[in-house]
Amino acid sequence: MAVMSERAPAKINLTLDVLGRRPDGFHDLRTLMQSVSLCDKLTLTGRERPGLGVTSNLSFLPTDRRNLVRAAAAAFFARSGLTPPGLHLHLEKHIPVGSGMGGGSADAAAALRLFNRFFQAGLSHSDLETLAARVGSDVPFCVRGGTQLAEGRGERLTSLPPLPDCHIVLCKPSFSLSTATVFSRVTATRILWHPDHDGALRALREGDLRALSQRLFNVLSSSVPHGQREIADICGTLLDAGALGALMSGSGPTVYGLFSDPDTARAVCETLRACYPETFLARPLAAVSDDDAPAVTR
Ligand code: C5P
Repeated sequence: MAVMSERAPAKINLTLDVLGRRPDGFHDLRTLMQSVSLCDKLTLTGRERPGLGVTSNLSFLPTDRRNLVRAAAAAFFARSGLTPPGLHLHLEKHIPVGSGMGGGSADAAAALRLFNRFFQAGLSHSDLETLAARVGSDVPFCVRGGTQLAEGRGERLTSLPPLPDCHIVLCKPSFSLSTATVFSRVTATRILWHPDHDGALRALREGDLRALSQRLFNVLSSSVPHGQREIADICGTLLDAGALGALMSGSGPTVYGLFSDPDTARAVCETLRACYPETFLARPLAAVSDDDAPAVTR
């Protein structure tokens, strides 16, 4: 029986701005997103029993309709016109759940790519991104990966020059946050400070990691319902250790730091892991199909 695997890379937000609330209840965003080498792995096999079975290595992770891979499967089979045969999808999770690193969206995007390959359905990247937008706001980015400016709900993507190679320490505090809760606390008109997107885009074009690191900014940082102290402490630890910049990713609570020196990054990763077991060392990924990218190390 055929077995096929696909990587599902996590993302970080280098900037995140909320421009306003939309009539559909979502928010208009402008955010620079970057794929990183911390990945889940999806494995698809055929099975005799009809329907889609989903399992994961995490006992607490829902594998029913609450799991975005099921929405991805429904969208794929509706669009491709294929009749779903018996399938089994196993999720090997490494990206912490509820962490602001887009793990559920990454899995849904990887499932779309995987179904497309497994069934040789021939859907284009643009077809997959259109399907992805129905599954979740971050899923189109996760289909494309690399370095992107995401606007609208997050589905309007503009490809950007890659983040200069660096070492990224990802540290998830001891608690998780719900994206919906964090967004519900945002009042766009009360946001006084916004990211310098022009400066960040210039830094990317010039391949200037230091200038980019000085422009990391996330307006959601002030909307987290609790744990602000822990988030600030982790940022402080990363900066004191020599990070060029540090920021909470997405709706949090994961904090990351960008480093040019691998030894410095490795040392602070070990220090933080003593307190926060879900601390990882990663690298930027140029694109999700980039198989030469270095693997994540723990
Ligand atoms: O699209 P997704 O299901 O990932 O969004 C999760 C929640 O985050 C939404 O229900 C919404 O509350 C919030 N959100 C938002 N505006 C966005 C993206 C997400 O308000 N652009």
